[in-house]
Amino acid sequence: MKVIAINGSPRKGGNTEILLKKVLVPLSAAGWDTELVQIGGKKIRGCTACYRCFEWDEPRCSIKTDIFNEVFEKVLASQAIILGSPTYFTDVSAEMKAFLDRAGFVSVAKGGLLRGKIGAAVVAVRRGGGTHAFDTMNHMFLMSGVIIPGSTYWNLGYGLDKGDVASDAEGLRNMEDIGRTIAWLGAAMAPPHGHLSEGNNCRIMRSVSRKMFFVFTPHDLRLTLLKTISDY
Ligand SMILES: Cc1cc2nc3c(=O)[nH]c(=O)nc-3n(C[C@H](O)[C@H](O)[C@H](O)COP(=O)(O)O)c2cc1C
Repeated sequence: MKVIAINGSPRKGGNTEILLKKVLVPLSAAGWDTELVQIGGKKIRGCTACYRCFEWDEPRCSIKTDIFNEVFEKVLASQAIILGSPTYFTDVSAEMKAFLDRAGFVSVAKGGLLRGKIGAAVVAVRRGGGTHAFDTMNHMFLMSGVIIPGSTYWNLGYGLDKGDVASDAEGLRNMEDIGRTIAWLGAAMAPPHGHLSEGNNCRIMRSVSRKMFFVFTPHDLRLTLLKTISDY
């Protein structure tokens, strides 16, 4: 199982990075392959609305002059994605917004490349606007069929200067909690060893429809149906 954490803060080693690393601790302990990727401060432009991703088969963006495609390839190879951003005027950083628009668009263009992956958003904030930045990242996940596990609180860490979030004990506990939940969910969704995956969604839907059959089908009809099936 692989998890990729994407840092949208241009401040390397800053609060967002500290939070992302905290989320990765329980995942690493559970045996996940973890990778932290820096996009903040790097060249990554916004979507140009060329719609070329709808025309070709490859799961990539038409802009080849920045880091997006390289990062998106790693996202596609991961079962879980953690997005991290500082709060900038009540929203995500410009680099994170560029990533969200292009990842969401290529995913939709290719029929839902992110569907069934696990996603979590974490935010560094000094005082206000953190939940809005958190929502911005979750909106892309929710539009893309990504499964978002809950935690003990919104995934926010409080601090202004580099390293300040290390004093936000509750925030850090929450990061570890979300990491543990992702590890648990990932294990629950993993296909059996050596089994050729038919996709997590199919397995989940089959299990859900089995349960719905027993919950919603009247008892007598259920018995008749089961008898018919066994006679057949
Ligand atoms: C351009 C800019 C805008 C900011 N806007 C907000 C804001 O709206 N609300 C807030 O609480 N903090 C705001 N901050 C503070 C950062 O969110 C905070 O310092 C955060 O911990 C930075 O995370 P980092 O160390 O990962 O870069 C802003 C900082 C910058 C540089």
